[in-house]
Amino acid sequence: MQPTDALSDWPEWLTDWPMELAQSRFSAENHGDYPRWQAAIDAMPTAAQLSVGLPQLAAGAVGCSLGISENDSSGSTDAELLIKLEASLQALHPWRKGPFQFGSIFIDTEWRSDWKWNRLADAVGSLADQRILDIGSGNGYFGWRMLGAGAESVVGIDPTLVFCMQHRAVQCLLRHPNHWVLPLGIEEIPSTHAFDWVLSMGVLYHRKDPQEHIRQMYALTEAGGKCVMETLVVDGPASLYPEGRYARMRNISVIPSLAELQQWLVQAGYTNPQLIDLTPTTTEEQRSTPWMRFESLDKALDATNPSRTMEGWPAPLRAIIVAEKCSA
Ligand SMILES: C[S@@+](CC[C@H](N)C(=O)[O-])C[C@H]1O[C@@H](n2cnc3c(N)ncnc32)[C@H](O)[C@@H]1O
Repeated sequence: MQPTDALSDWPEWLTDWPMELAQSRFSAENHGDYPRWQAAIDAMPTAAQLSVGLPQLAAGAVGCSLGISENDSSGSTDAELLIKLEASLQALHPWRKGPFQFGSIFIDTEWRSDWKWNRLADAVGSLADQRILDIGSGNGYFGWRMLGAGAESVVGIDPTLVFCMQHRAVQCLLRHPNHWVLPLGIEEIPSTHAFDWVLSMGVLYHRKDPQEHIRQMYALTEAGGKCVMETLVVDGPASLYPEGRYARMRNISVIPSLAELQQWLVQAGYTNPQLIDLTPTTTEEQRSTPWMRFESLDKALDATNPSRTMEGWPAPLRAIIVAEKCSA
């Protein structure tokens, strides 16, 4: 069930993006696990063996129904094909964003990303004919939900290769011609192409210069377009610059206050920043599962006081802000 050349091709209209660089990252030179991941994808049941139902993009779990293809001459049973598929998908551990459902295989990801989508969906509304850029897309879960809301195309960028491989595996099943996840960082793409919507969810606090990150987003937003900024925030007047780790994460540069975050968006040029959601992250929303077997949020909180991280900082609180870029 390997992707066709057309599906693995890059979006042609992103003419001056560094596509050769992106392509070169799908290699053992870039990541020692790449051959193992690609072998797992190559071992997925073929299109001749599995018949794949229409993509289900509107429900919480993105996926499709599966059955044995009428053309299958291998003599495999339904159960054997599903075991083979599940083994391939498990080889792409850790699955952080989802969930996904392929036939009877339920990928119970670390995050209930469907909960975040539910908080966002009304503010986004119909995405008919919209071109989307999802910065830090992970495996592209939100891209599928946005295609389900009518988006014309979704380009995700994420430098973590295993998430790009997960997207590749999902694409083998869902086969959408206008959904890509490229192994690139925001700092590597030019701002010569603008998108109707630019999303940055869970990325800002990893950036050394968060204001520069927002300026890049603004440059990538079409006049008359919108951005979604989702990030950890602190509930108080002052932004937090954690020394050392935050909730066991090493690379957290800043957790802004809501006021400062809104100010940064306006300083970059956006107008009308609207807070559409403010929710503490719970250990029901982010947790270890059979598809993400590493430790998760519960181990990053103070065992005696879960309103604090184990380092003593306020526990994770996440905001979603939607802002606009004026028409030219
Ligand atoms: C906390 S996850 C958020 C994933 C998803 N957007 C969500 O909201 O659930 C942050 C993602 O940002 C990616 N990332 C880190 N640095 C990045 C950069 N410079 N450009 C784009 N993505 C980046 C990471 O690989 C990771 O997948």
